[in-house]
Amino acid sequence: MTNIIDDLEWRYTTKAYDPSKKVADEDFDILLKSLELAPSSINSQGSRYFVASSDEAIKKIADATKDYGFNTDKILKSSHTVVFTSKVDYNDDDVNKLVKLGQDDGRIPSESTDDFIKGYKHFINLHRHNQKDIAQWLAKQTYLTLGVFLCTAANLRIDTTVIEGIDLGMVNNILGLQEKGLSADFVVSVGYRSPDDLNDPAKTKKSRFPKDQKIFTI
Ligand SMILES: Cc1cc2nc3c(=O)[nH]c(=O)nc-3n(C[C@H](O)[C@H](O)[C@H](O)COP(=O)(O)O)c2cc1C
Repeated sequence: MTNIIDDLEWRYTTKAYDPSKKVADEDFDILLKSLELAPSSINSQGSRYFVASSDEAIKKIADATKDYGFNTDKILKSSHTVVFTSKVDYNDDDVNKLVKLGQDDGRIPSESTDDFIKGYKHFINLHRHNQKDIAQWLAKQTYLTLGVFLCTAANLRIDTTVIEGIDLGMVNNILGLQEKGLSADFVVSVGYRSPDDLNDPAKTKKSRFPKDQKIFTI
């Protein structure tokens, strides 16, 4: 077990992968487990992940970077690429499933079921009807799972690249996401850094504004 700050200093946005190295299944399973365990508001769990590991699947996703050529090789030379997607809505059926899960897991006693439904619906209606940003709210939860994923990968000394520079509409079409009630947010390529990658913090220092410009005592 390494120190979390060591992990975060070790991790960086990998710009060049060693295509000969593949992440072992047991390590990749840990990465997937971290996505399962990541938190979400009201435990909504509206994020869905699509994993490309075969050459064919990876190429399919890389095709969506045609307008972002600087990202193409990061996907093509990765070991795995994961498409992070979010549900675009959260309806009564989704709430019922969430309540059933809570009941099955012994967290929602039958006498409190109505209170839980009311509590869940408060937040969902706030975003569905008042703020009209339900899709963005669900996507925020997916970004949160990204943080957990990146830290887990760093802990395993697995390299990653978060990629928003990709045609998300094209990714939606390639994976038929609209029909599934989902929308792609970004992709993450996963693998091992090339010794030639100049972005490695051992070669190029990380760039961060000083702490006193970002963190304040109340
Ligand atoms: C949401 C998100 C989207 C990003 N999209 C890209 C991208 O399309 N291509 C890329 O090379 N880096 C991308 N980055 C990497 C950032 O530029 C990088 O995290 C930042 O410069 C800090 O550097 P570090 O990750 O090496 O510490 C993205 C990062 C985040 C969090």
